[in-house]
Amino acid sequence: MNNMRNPRIIDVNLDMMIRTSLLHIIALGTKHGVFSFLTKNPTPQELIDEIDLPNRRLLLSFINVLKRLNIIEERDYALYLDGFSYTIKIPQGKYDLVVPDWVSVQEEIYRMVDYAFITPVHPHVLMDFDKDADFWDMRMNTKFSRAYRDVTASLLGIKKGMSVLDIGCGSVSPAYFGEKVGYNGFYMGVDYSPALLDIARARVEAKNLPVELKELDARLIRPVNEYDAVILSFVLEYVEPKDRGRVLKNALDVLKSGGRMAIVDPFIDSFEFVPALEFFESLNKEFRGFPAAKEITERILALGFDVEIERPARSVLLVRKL
Ligand SMILES: C[S@@+](CC[C@H](N)C(=O)[O-])C[C@H]1O[C@@H](n2cnc3c(N)ncnc32)[C@H](O)[C@@H]1O
Repeated sequence: MNNMRNPRIIDVNLDMMIRTSLLHIIALGTKHGVFSFLTKNPTPQELIDEIDLPNRRLLLSFINVLKRLNIIEERDYALYLDGFSYTIKIPQGKYDLVVPDWVSVQEEIYRMVDYAFITPVHPHVLMDFDKDADFWDMRMNTKFSRAYRDVTASLLGIKKGMSVLDIGCGSVSPAYFGEKVGYNGFYMGVDYSPALLDIARARVEAKNLPVELKELDARLIRPVNEYDAVILSFVLEYVEPKDRGRVLKNALDVLKSGGRMAIVDPFIDSFEFVPALEFFESLNKEFRGFPAAKEITERILALGFDVEIERPARSVLLVRKL
């Protein structure tokens, strides 16, 4: 199989992204003296008071992430380093699928954390979909993003003449899928970020593609058209869990019978150490946490549509409407 169409390519790169984040969490704990002070078994309050970082809210979130990763444990109000151990393996069989340009993006995010620790207001302005649309555009333009788009297009069988709805489309996917469906097809991209839609629009207009872009919250999609395929890639983590059922219902409402929907995400129950990545992603104020594959599957089944759900990779749920 062509590597770029192999669904495992998404899993392998996400695994590495998450593990790189874990190493960076350990670097942050060392750099800011968090681990040194933890040897005194402080209370969370004592730790926050001792560590000289102005952004206490972020420091608290850092402590919570250490707990979720089982690096520390809280017993009788005191924090203990829990003897966490992690083995680094570099197996040959995985590196053939690595598309490493996400590494510089991660490095950019680690740098943002340094700023975020300095002032309490920074976390609300860094990695914003509108203010920092250029950063997101760069992130969505990596070869890794291209790879998950290739996999998605292949799993959904996207070809000329098809109609596609992309929920939370961002700035790069519209031109990519617009070209795939061709001039007798139709692509509708929905996103709530006007800045990302502007970038997307410039790209599709330059090529005169059959693409419509709508500035809309995913929760408010109305069933006007019907689509052969629906895409939700790296989006549900920005939707409150209580609203995810509604977004999935809207998506399935507009899917034709026989049509397919792809949901792509580092599902929290399918990858180890996901909280490490979540710590960095939460610099975006809309981030709500990665969904679990089990949660999304249960939500879909609870909606009562006649569907078949496949799992071509740990990071992909492929839903066929019967
Ligand atoms: C990480 S980007 C992924 C973009 C695209 N799906 C891709 O894979 O390249 C998340 C996108 O979802 C959009 N988004 C997040 N929550 C949304 C919501 N509730 N309604 C509409 N768009 C949303 C953001 O503006 C952003 O463009």
